[in-house]
Amino acid sequence: MRLTPQQIDTFHTEGYLFFPGLFKPDEVAALNAAVPELYARREAYNVRERGSDAVRTNFAAHLYSEPFAKLARHPRMVEPVEDLFAEKLYMHQFKINGKMAFEGDVWQWHQDYGTWKNDDLMPTERAMNVAIFLDDVNEFNGPLMFIPGSHRKGVIDAKHDLTTTSYPLWTVDNALITKLVDRAGGKNGGIVSPKGPAGSMILFHSCLVHASTSNLSPWNRVSVYLSLCAVSNHIRRFKRPEYIAHREFSAIECLPDDCLLKPYAVDLPWKDGMPASALETSLTEISA
Ligand code: SIN
Ligand code: MN
Repeated sequence: MRLTPQQIDTFHTEGYLFFPGLFKPDEVAALNAAVPELYARREAYNVRERGSDAVRTNFAAHLYSEPFAKLARHPRMVEPVEDLFAEKLYMHQFKINGKMAFEGDVWQWHQDYGTWKNDDLMPTERAMNVAIFLDDVNEFNGPLMFIPGSHRKGVIDAKHDLTTTSYPLWTVDNALITKLVDRAGGKNGGIVSPKGPAGSMILFHSCLVHASTSNLSPWNRVSVYLSLCAVSNHIRRFKRPEYIAHREFSAIECLPDDCLLKPYAVDLPWKDGMPASALETSLTEISA
């Protein structure tokens, strides 16, 4: 899938593009069917909500689950990002966020590049977030919120919040959020929230400021978040475990467009378990 010049302009101005219903119900069903068994695993790569058994985020499923390995190579997801960066991409991070009914906790206001820079020493913001809804997303089940245009501010000062949720995050303080929302239009469009059916996709800039509220509704909000990084922009430090920040920088080669519905051979290197090395961390900077 290729972007039009109009879409590329919108991305640069707003910091995101929304594609409602891009993946069809049978494609979404093939992915959804794999989630309960993945979430049931007692593995480090399943981070649960604070004080609850509900999975907040599952990491790296593309390395051990066939349907998600195929999604990680899907041309509808990869090609638009290749167009925007004019470069091949590798998978920096792969998450299936639960935001489960009644239990899904907040994601505080943040830029993803803040974490990639501070923790992983990713050189620049040439990395993209892609969200793919596996459930319908509505105003009640904790949709993503964006401050349109906030990516144009570049990298914003952030604090490492280790206490608000079960997952550490570099977050932006409320005074700055207030200013950014005002600048983006205040009550008239200063916060937007793309909502739509399962199968919808959002591309958003790694400096776009975003958050989501908790899910008090009876509806799960399972979504896949893929972070695609330009190969030349690979991370320079392995401070976080490999299941969170990947260390395999080879370029993604896409499968055919029908890959979610047909058998295609994919490599599943962690199919029989995660290697011990994936838990090792280091503060040493690696070379380019
Ligand atoms: C994220 O920002 O990485 C996740 C946000 C969400 O799942 O709502
Ligand atoms: Mn984020």
